[in-house]
Amino acid sequence: MKEQKKIYGSLKIGKIEVKNPVLLAPMEDVTDLPFRLICRTLGADIVYSEFIASEAIIRDAKRSKQKMLIDERERPIALQIFGSNVDAMVEAAKIIEKIGVDFIDINYGCWVKNVVRNNAGAALLKEPDKMITMTKAVVDSVNVPVTVKTRLGWDRSSIIIVDLAKRLEDTGIAALTIHCRTRIEAIKGEADWSWIPKIKENILIPVILNGDVKTPQDVKRAFEETGCNGVMIGRAAIGYPFIFREAKHFLETGEELAPPDISERIDICLEHLRNEIKFKGTQRGLIEFRKNYSGYLKGLRDSHHIRQKLVTSDSYDEIVHILNEYNDYLYSIESLA
Ligand SMILES: Cc1cc2nc3c(=O)[nH]c(=O)nc-3n(C[C@H](O)[C@H](O)[C@H](O)COP(=O)(O)O)c2cc1C
Repeated sequence: MKEQKKIYGSLKIGKIEVKNPVLLAPMEDVTDLPFRLICRTLGADIVYSEFIASEAIIRDAKRSKQKMLIDERERPIALQIFGSNVDAMVEAAKIIEKIGVDFIDINYGCWVKNVVRNNAGAALLKEPDKMITMTKAVVDSVNVPVTVKTRLGWDRSSIIIVDLAKRLEDTGIAALTIHCRTRIEAIKGEADWSWIPKIKENILIPVILNGDVKTPQDVKRAFEETGCNGVMIGRAAIGYPFIFREAKHFLETGEELAPPDISERIDICLEHLRNEIKFKGTQRGLIEFRKNYSGYLKGLRDSHHIRQKLVTSDSYDEIVHILNEYNDYLYSIESLA
């Protein structure tokens, strides 16, 4: 008889049902369509777009239009929206719904000054009543599930998440993601997962844990220590989408999957770059891709020097050449070892 796989957590959002879910976090300038597709192929169960300003969606802004493109192969996919005006958020949600997304996520977690100054993102943690009104208005205006991603509170002395989670649940959202930090902590300091069990005690909708999940072992520990329904990975996936495959394998077998070999890392890096160029055009594609090299080359011998060359190159062919030469170099040292 086939052995039953251990279930650490499960997630249901509308028609989507996933066991042991490991999700790709929304990240501005990172989780565009090409990257999301790679993460899905390598095991991410659900992917999220970068956040998109509601006002820009309504204005039909060019950049936002590109952020709203989705591909059938990446489902389940959520587009994330943010804003400070309730009517604009409702209108934006209706536009997003027509694209055919699996669900809509609302961002109440962004700490960046420009966003907070405009009373959007994490600023709503200071105005919980408005957050609730906005969420309910969006939930009531669309037929697709709506989820929320937020933080513990504004700062350590104003952690409101336990009560807030209940109020958010009452608006009819389908799931809640918690980045286990406060707004003041931004993305620094240690995420405090200990709030997840306290939130879960208070609500029935699925709770997704986010913050400081860096390894497959962290994913398992997050499920075991907190009882969360899903685990969301952000920075650890930048330039290392293999983390999803490794995490899923670890959950399913209890064994560590060997990391990708050099050739696979380079192949995926180049596939990612090619798709970015196709998606954004050569110049923008090459420049915006630069943040990914350190992840794709992380831990590889003498990679610092190679990275320097890659981030100053403005030619795809040259990048292929640099990486192929580096591949040969690494294999030659390996064969001598
Ligand atoms: C470059 C970058 C861009 C981000 N953009 C967004 C965003 O658009 N929407 C959002 O909800 N969170 C955004 N975040 C926060 C992440 O989704 C996540 O909550 C945070 O990085 C903590 O998770 P981690 O420790 O796994 O990285 C961003 C984070 C980074 C590093």
